[in-house]
Amino acid sequence: MESKLKNLKDSVLKDLAEIKDSQILADLKNKYLGRKGELNELLKSLKDLSVEEKPKIGKLANEVKEELVVLFSKAEKIISGDKKESEDLDFDPTLPGIKKEIGHLNPSTIVQYEIEDAFLAMGFSIYDGPQLESDYYNFTALNIPDDHPARDTQDTFWLEGDNLLRTHTSNLQVRMLEKYGAPFRGIFPGRVFRYEATDASHDHTFYQLEGLMVDEDINIGNLIATMKTLLSAVFRREVDVRLRPGFFPFVEPGFEMDIKCLVCSGDGCSVCKQSGWLELMPCGMVHPKVLEAGGVDSKKYSGFAFGLGLTRMTMMKYRINDIRLLESGDLRFLKQF
Ligand code: PHE
Repeated sequence: MESKLKNLKDSVLKDLAEIKDSQILADLKNKYLGRKGELNELLKSLKDLSVEEKPKIGKLANEVKEELVVLFSKAEKIISGDKKESEDLDFDPTLPGIKKEIGHLNPSTIVQYEIEDAFLAMGFSIYDGPQLESDYYNFTALNIPDDHPARDTQDTFWLEGDNLLRTHTSNLQVRMLEKYGAPFRGIFPGRVFRYEATDASHDHTFYQLEGLMVDEDINIGNLIATMKTLLSAVFRREVDVRLRPGFFPFVEPGFEMDIKCLVCSGDGCSVCKQSGWLELMPCGMVHPKVLEAGGVDSKKYSGFAFGLGLTRMTMMKYRINDIRLLESGDLRFLKQF
């Protein structure tokens, strides 16, 4: 009798697992729990049991009956589409949860946002512009003569017509001056392209952040003060800078700004090649021809511009030793930030 009850329960479970519609479920319920159903048939034979067995088996039979009633009512709810009930059935609170992967920013973007914040605080606005550019805005308007080496096919991805992939964010200098005039205070972060053989320190695609400030009486002191504010914001400490002469056709005078090596504080180490200084950023006073190309009166206004190597800065900040990692999409690298 005991095993018959158990078998009955097993076959109910088995049948329930297979049913697909409510009619079959109703039939099944009738077959097992109905007035003339299998359970009742079994219960009829209780009377044939011995006096000792009767209470024990009787109790068991009642338990099985209750269990089956519960099972059937759950099955009915599932079949009728009561979602919550079906979830409850499947839910095992002891299982570990499913960990959701959370996306995050590329390290260049992290550094870009930090720099943007520093410039927003100094009253600059952030602008964007075309990566597919004309020869005019990338070169000619910037006082880069036809025979300048920057136009060499080794540096530039030339496209059809007079178009190219911009080789620097300076392409936006004249565009912005044309559009907004003077005074102007803006930065233009963005992707630039060079026709390069790639290695640990060269990639065909990287990021720059251009800055341009034009107003009355802008001088080199303003340039240095702005740069120092920016650098302390990014490196979170006071940074020493120095200017060396540098040549770029669109600035006069032009400089290379170096920062005192952050690793050895200027004593000399392998990172700064024992010089104590790291080359960081080309900059200078905007060439009058560039102001004029943008429709700005160069007698009244002056300005400074700089071209910060965003990718380079990111590599310095996080001590990344291969530039190609940044655009690789390699999650083993990216997940570290
Ligand atoms: N555009 C220059 C480059 O990519 C850098 C630069 C920007 C220099 C602004 C001076 C002023 O090399």
